[in-house]
Amino acid sequence: MTTCLNDYRLTLAGREYVPIMIGGMGVDISTSALALAAAQLGGIGHISDAMNQFVSDKNYGTTFSRQKSAKYRFLNNNPDKSEVLFNLHHVREAQLNHVRRTMEKKGSKGAVFLNIMEKLSMRQGRETLQTRLTSALDGGIDGITLSAGLHKSSFAMMSEHPRFHDAALGIIVSSVRALSIFLRAAKKVGRLPDYVVVEGPLAGGHLGFGTDWSEYSLKAICLEVIKFLQDNDLQIPVIPAGGIFTGGDAVQFMEIGASAVQVATRFTVTHESGLPASAKQAYFRASEEEITVGSISPTGYLMRYLKTSPCFGSSVRPQCQAFGYVLSEAGKCAYIEAFEKTACDDKGKKLPVNDKICLCHHFSKSNCYTCGHYTYRLKDTSNRLADGTYQLLSAEHVLNDYLYSTGNNVKRPEEENQTLYSL
Ligand SMILES: Cc1cc2nc3c(=O)[nH]c(=O)nc-3n(C[C@H](O)[C@H](O)[C@H](O)COP(=O)(O)O)c2cc1C
Repeated sequence: MTTCLNDYRLTLAGREYVPIMIGGMGVDISTSALALAAAQLGGIGHISDAMNQFVSDKNYGTTFSRQKSAKYRFLNNNPDKSEVLFNLHHVREAQLNHVRRTMEKKGSKGAVFLNIMEKLSMRQGRETLQTRLTSALDGGIDGITLSAGLHKSSFAMMSEHPRFHDAALGIIVSSVRALSIFLRAAKKVGRLPDYVVVEGPLAGGHLGFGTDWSEYSLKAICLEVIKFLQDNDLQIPVIPAGGIFTGGDAVQFMEIGASAVQVATRFTVTHESGLPASAKQAYFRASEEEITVGSISPTGYLMRYLKTSPCFGSSVRPQCQAFGYVLSEAGKCAYIEAFEKTACDDKGKKLPVNDKICLCHHFSKSNCYTCGHYTYRLKDTSNRLADGTYQLLSAEHVLNDYLYSTGNNVKRPEEENQTLYSL
């Protein structure tokens, strides 16, 4: 009989899961509902804490962003944002809101982890990160996955927390080098990661590669990581991510020694995904040519996105007063520089800012369609409806397809009842 992903199990920190993780997708694309659906089926789902105050305001009726915006309104036209500071009590409350309310809904199956994108420096990198980490543990999160911009001392920042040894802690790396640097730091606090997500060049979101990303292969990096861990007598589960589109792809990684897979792109077009309906249709319609990797993110990392994203052609004023998640210690962001350099037309209106986007603004408006390389294959996973749109999927359907489909097959959903057209 042909092997399927469901023939395997992931054991993590003493618990057993179906070997699939839905990766974190900021800003609230991997919603609580999506993460809970993964847990419900015995797998692991992620929520994300990217722009956590904005997410708390949107979902739980708080007003953190409005308060911050009012406090720093005097800086609206000033490119120097060095006075903008996050209120750490608000950062903590926002984190607790999102984590607690998600965990309250979780049953006994599976797990919900939090993706913490460390590159969101939030003007005071260390203080805000430590607050995000410890309040996530206080909120009862099952595990934390540290991503983009791994901070060597993040484990040390949590080491005094009573749940430091009880919560599952993992990291995302794209090379053995990054892994070995992190492990050296982790050893000093007597705590190794419980799992390592190896993210290859075909993933969505920010990439851990330079402009030569296409020369790397997820399989090769995974094999190197597995060998490195074996050579060092370390039994840490390896979880590949990036371009694993079918159950058959997943099985190939399990056969070379992976313990589970992390996937995301196929869940962007589910009911549970936080993208607006128009964006979900844009993902479905995307052609291969519309998907690109570029340096528009002010974080300094390359990002993969759809060229059709509504953010292009914008010249929005930097929104650091309300947001400011990318601000450095010196109160700088590459978008502010790009904005200041951009000329105005003869009526005094700012021309489009070309080389960077205001990440905070455009992600808050879902205007930047970051996506995985295989987004152009999403149309083959669903049904085209009579009005030309694509049928949204349920997270359960997609997860089960990963678990039970074999080879390169993808199971489409049952066709929706086309009552409109049978009238
Ligand atoms: C829309 C989208 C947003 C993402 N956002 C994040 C993020 O905020 N943080 C992160 O660590 N990874 C992010 N990722 C990467 C995923 O968590 C995951 O590792 C990767 O995309 C898996 O590959 P796949 O999309 O080909 O399945 C994102 C991916 C997508 C598709």
